[in-house]
Amino acid sequence: MNTHNDITQLVSLSSSIVTPQSPPVELDLSTFLYQAMDVSKIIDVKSWAKYFDEIPVDPYIKDGYRYKSIAWFRIKHQKVAAIDAINEHINMVNELSGMSDAQSVKYLSSSKPVWCSEETGYCCWNLPQYVMQQSIKYNPVHGDMRREYPRINNKITDSNDFHKLLTLYASFFGWSDAVLLVQFQRVDCYTDRIGLPAVEGFHQDGNRHVGMLVVDRDNVANDSGVSQYVMDNNGKKTNELIFNEMIPAGQLIFWNDKRVWHYGTEIKVADTTKNGGRGVRDIIILSAKTPPANMPMGPVAEQFRQW
Ligand SMILES: [Fe+2]
Repeated sequence: MNTHNDITQLVSLSSSIVTPQSPPVELDLSTFLYQAMDVSKIIDVKSWAKYFDEIPVDPYIKDGYRYKSIAWFRIKHQKVAAIDAINEHINMVNELSGMSDAQSVKYLSSSKPVWCSEETGYCCWNLPQYVMQQSIKYNPVHGDMRREYPRINNKITDSNDFHKLLTLYASFFGWSDAVLLVQFQRVDCYTDRIGLPAVEGFHQDGNRHVGMLVVDRDNVANDSGVSQYVMDNNGKKTNELIFNEMIPAGQLIFWNDKRVWHYGTEIKVADTTKNGGRGVRDIIILSAKTPPANMPMGPVAEQFRQW
């Protein structure tokens, strides 16, 4: 399989310019709303579905229909100087997590990256298991609350396919240096209970852009779990749907979180006689953060302090 050409082809849907030899030229976000693409030919998305079975229930959703694991990364292009504020922020949260300077430095851009993509020049550092601490400005349901989640299985995060996904996200937008939050999220439903992919309704998350990969839709009705966007108007939501489609498994969609508000309609069981009347929708959410934007990283919870 020719990985190089495949990723290049998908990145060519964007106006970014990314090569290993020179600093990337970022996608012009003033003209970008969203772009969907089929990644099932370059990433064996189906093989990830089984890992969603092991994700524990999200304790912060009281009705218990959501499951979540997360991981943090730093993705920087090899030809750009590090953004100092990113190193400072990582160092500060590490210190608050009880790390020594010697331990903390392993997570900074002065240390050797865990992997680099030869085709694009992007390099990646795995970051500690920070808690999510989102500003209340962006999430009225969960704002500012500390949310601890377990890490995504290393079998996935250490795999070539996963590295391709992160490389594709970075290359599509062509950022120089950013912290990346990856969330694996399952929502389930039963014959007598729907599942809500977006508890807070139409919203923005305070990112510049977001990616969502649908890994699996198992026994979920086709007209449920539909992705919808409306335009932003100076910080206010408008009403007209500019996107209203069911995104099938294997499809990745990128959108401009500043210009559109997003929502996922409730999920419903397709066949009540299958899987004990249960349906699941499994997705991966990718969001890159560059200061001074929202950097929702809180100190690592006690149980995950392994360094
Ligand atoms: Fe969201």
